Amino acid sequence: MDRYCVFGNPIGHSKSPLIHRLFAEQTGQALTYDARLAPLDDFVGDARAFFADGLGGNVTVPFKEEAFRLADELTERARRAGAVNTLKKLADGRLLGDNTDGAGLTRDLQDNAGFSLAGKRILVLGAGGAVRGVLEPFLAQKPAVLVIANRTVAKAEQLVREFADLGPLVAAGFDWIDAPVDLIVNGTSASLGGELPPIAPSLIQPGHTVCYDMMYGREATAFNRWAAEQGAARCLDGLGMLVEQAAEAFELWRGVRPDTAPVLAELRRQLLAG
Ligand code: ATR
Repeated sequence: MDRYCVFGNPIGHSKSPLIHRLFAEQTGQALTYDARLAPLDDFVGDARAFFADGLGGNVTVPFKEEAFRLADELTERARRAGAVNTLKKLADGRLLGDNTDGAGLTRDLQDNAGFSLAGKRILVLGAGGAVRGVLEPFLAQKPAVLVIANRTVAKAEQLVREFADLGPLVAAGFDWIDAPVDLIVNGTSASLGGELPPIAPSLIQPGHTVCYDMMYGREATAFNRWAAEQGAARCLDGLGMLVEQAAEAFELWRGVRPDTAPVLAELRRQLLAG
């Protein structure tokens, strides 16, 4: 059987094996997909051992930058992201590195939530790896403007320098005030600690602004609870992004696009069941 896996450390709670097994079942693809605990000090050795006969792998925390350096060839979006979440063994044995995180978020917004990014005013909170991964796919949709607001403004300014050739980008702090925006994406890890970035409530236009937290959990995240209190039109979480980034990887490996809706529904059911 064709072998795939996800590399991470820790890896026990990864939902990727479940997602890819459901995709394989649905599309009739014969493959195995396992969670693989890679040693913190030897991701490269572990990846090389797997790829002796393995065909593809996902890469999660903390190995995405190492996977970027390991790849022999990179997609443009992975090169821009500076991180790889998907590896594919090519016919000649070399490894292709891709980053499907941003495309997954874009698809979740556009296809699942019906929110088109073209011409929109977008505010992205955070300037770490998660945000870096979405800038190229977002800008490819031609928003009117994309503001990157971060606690450490210098990091937002650095991202603007690196991505400014791709579209209209602005760097700001959380005290940024302007007319309401169409979309706010929380890409900070603040939700992990139950915190939320202190942005102006007036950036949300009640009944209009869509809010998206890249994090997810059984309960709504702190950011999404706050956004709902401000009257956001919709408050979405990152579970859809997780399933969509996996679908992008599955398509890269197998050339078949799975139907994500039933898989997302199953994950949501399991999440709510605890
Ligand atoms: P990731 O890969 O999840 O993006 P990261 O690269 O460590 O992780 O980036 C974390 C992001 O969350 C950063 O933008 C960080 O802000 P700083 O650059 O100022 O450190 C942001 N962040 C983390 N905790 C936060 C908090 N409590 N409030 C606001 N922003 C926070």
